[in-house]
Amino acid sequence: MNQLMAKILDKSAIVGVVGLGYVGLPFAVEKAKVGFRVLGIDENPERTERINRGENYIGDVKDEELRALVTSGKIVALTGFERVPEMDVIVICVPTPLTKNLTPDLQYIEKVTSEIAPRLRAGQLISLESTTYPGTTEEVMLPILSESGLRVEKDFYLAHSPERVDPGNKCYTTKNTTKVVGGIGPNSLQVALSFYSQTVEQVVPVSSAKAAELVKVFENTFRAVNIALVNEIALLCDRMGLSVWEVLDAAFTKPFGIMPFYPGPGVGGHCIPLDPHYLEWKAKELNFNTHFIALAGEINRRMPEFVREKALRVLNGIGLAASKSNILILGGAYKRGQSDWRESPAIDVIRMLLNEGANVSYSDAHVPEIRGHGLEMRSVALTEEVLNRTDLVIIVTDHSDVDYDWVVRKSRHVFDTRNATRAVKVHRERITLL
Ligand SMILES: NC(=O)c1ccc[n+]([C@@H]2O[C@H](COP(=O)([O-])OP(=O)(O)OC[C@H]3O[C@@H](n4cnc5c(N)ncnc54)[C@H](O)[C@@H]3O)[C@@H](O)[C@H]2O)c1
Repeated sequence: MNQLMAKILDKSAIVGVVGLGYVGLPFAVEKAKVGFRVLGIDENPERTERINRGENYIGDVKDEELRALVTSGKIVALTGFERVPEMDVIVICVPTPLTKNLTPDLQYIEKVTSEIAPRLRAGQLISLESTTYPGTTEEVMLPILSESGLRVEKDFYLAHSPERVDPGNKCYTTKNTTKVVGGIGPNSLQVALSFYSQTVEQVVPVSSAKAAELVKVFENTFRAVNIALVNEIALLCDRMGLSVWEVLDAAFTKPFGIMPFYPGPGVGGHCIPLDPHYLEWKAKELNFNTHFIALAGEINRRMPEFVREKALRVLNGIGLAASKSNILILGGAYKRGQSDWRESPAIDVIRMLLNEGANVSYSDAHVPEIRGHGLEMRSVALTEEVLNRTDLVIIVTDHSDVDYDWVVRKSRHVFDTRNATRAVKVHRERITLL
């Protein structure tokens, strides 16, 4: 343990990062920037080849930083686990999706842990960063790693430190976002704390890996529930003939006891729609129902349906049947400024409107194509000509690089599900808000 801590402190420790996606690649770059040698592993050879050529594919990573770190040999990407014994610290950042029945799909964590176990050696720290239900590190990973014959807390160390990255956030980065760490025991905690303190300004210890796991799913549940609450208010405002945006803007002027959350066409990305259901599933094991999670999921998943229904009303209002209309979905990404369209509400909205017989296209400079979920679409350029032949523009993602003033001026009608047209002054009669 002392040897490992010394290597961490003088940065001679070799850091392995498994899963080089939205979480893993920025993490690898941060560790390499402070002097660690990083060996990244990803099963996707296209990704590892790109990294080894110094090519970046994640928005939050700076191209020139990655290139410099690869050129200087600080980051090397691999597709296999052969070099695990060289690593002193191994951080796991693989996906944690849900099955179709909303149950946890731990196949990635299990597979990676099974690859590490036969190569585990004394003096290594393994830290799980993937979001998951409380108990995964101890109940799923530890038994697999223990098959190596090595003893946790004595020979190797095991911790959970949930990633909190907020893609695109310019204010809070890996360095200044407080990080929570929980170990399988006190030794694991101590080693993990010293490791994370090398790159993160403030690290908060909790008593166990299980507590750290619950911290993260609670954080995402907090968001899911609050978004569901404003979405429900949006549905109610629609019935009452009130503008939810006006009501919320006024409510958020209260300087205490309230926090801004906004409604929208549904929640997307790899976290908010999925993670709370990890907790819901685990709670059932204890014969406990997490009502808020179930309700929030239900309301948030209903939002694309509401968008479809309101879009049909808007079309009706301008004398058009859906089956006779050209609809342009503005934005495919789940979030402003991002290229990630995983779980994006745009997918459901597009599919539902196609089912209504509408001619649907989408435009998103960040998302060149959407392939999957029964869709094969390429983004169309946002030009005057495209808007001329469009009956209804539906703003699904409020990217900040779109000139909404121009969009409204050139469009027949705009259904804005994000209040992206908030600052538009002219032709407001053409805009319908969520
Ligand atoms: N994206 C976010 O904003 C965010 C934020 C906080 C936490 N998280 C959590 O972090 C975890 C990773 O999310 P992500 O968005 O980085 O996922 P991602 O899909 O962007 O990246 C995961 C990577 O793991 C690789 N991978 C999968 N199986 C592998 C295997 N067996 N061996 C090696 N590599 C393998 C994939 O090829 C992919 O490159 C998830 O649990 C997620 O919930 C994500």
